[in-house]
Amino acid sequence: MGTYSIYLESAKKIARDAGLMVKAHLNKKHNVQNKSQFDFVTEVDKMSEDMIRSYLIEQFPDHLFFGEESVSSSKLDEDAIIDSLPDDKYIWVVDPIDGTTNFIRGIPQFGISIALLYNKEVVVGVVYDISLERLFWTEKGGLSYCNNLEIKVSETSIVKNAIVATSFPASDLNARQQIMNTITEKCNEMTSLRIWNCASIAGISEAYGAIDVYFELGIHLWDFCAAMLIIQNAGGKFSDIDGQEFHMHQRNVLATNGILHDSFLNLIKL
Ligand code: IPD
Repeated sequence: MGTYSIYLESAKKIARDAGLMVKAHLNKKHNVQNKSQFDFVTEVDKMSEDMIRSYLIEQFPDHLFFGEESVSSSKLDEDAIIDSLPDDKYIWVVDPIDGTTNFIRGIPQFGISIALLYNKEVVVGVVYDISLERLFWTEKGGLSYCNNLEIKVSETSIVKNAIVATSFPASDLNARQQIMNTITEKCNEMTSLRIWNCASIAGISEAYGAIDVYFELGIHLWDFCAAMLIIQNAGGKFSDIDGQEFHMHQRNVLATNGILHDSFLNLIKL
């Protein structure tokens, strides 16, 4: 048992339970609302967030909760909320459906992302891949697993052999342009490209070695921080696009198998 195992076990349980609830709603008609022009939320995102929040706060009443839907519907600015979070409390950071657009259209890349932070550090990371019913999990100082099998990042060491994933950000249109410019310029320097538009699924794919590199601009803490710890504990490396280590206001991220990190920091310089 690790230091955070009690929290990890609760996160695993509720990620799976909420994931199965989301899956049961997959082919129903949804009430889709726009958060911004290309950023959507459904009643199922809210149900999932409520379910996860109620369970975790009932288990750990002195913990705080930072969920995508409550933060994005708040009148307060996201960065201001992050700044107001105390260092000496456990904070659950949750994306109740990462890949909402895929969920709405029945495209199978969507997941639930649950991370626990303490003192600005991620100490537990859980991602549930809803379509394939795979649970990815880790805790600080531990290894990373898919269900009960340990996972490792790839061993690809040559940039030209790299499979890269990125995204088409929902709310930062300037970031879209920068991603497309980078891809246009560098497209013949890598093996192939995936655009799943689901940060957590790209993250776990990095962690188990299906892809070698993942970069995305203009995302949010709830999209990537659980997958980040899973990638790191699977032997990978995670940083800002400028090489800076994890911080809570990070928006532009690069995750690699570690071997390719410096090469891609140079390759996708903006
Ligand atoms: C989305 C995904 C995607 C990113 C979008 C996000 P959401 O999360 O993480 O990778 O490109 O910008 O909105 O909103 O479906 O939870």
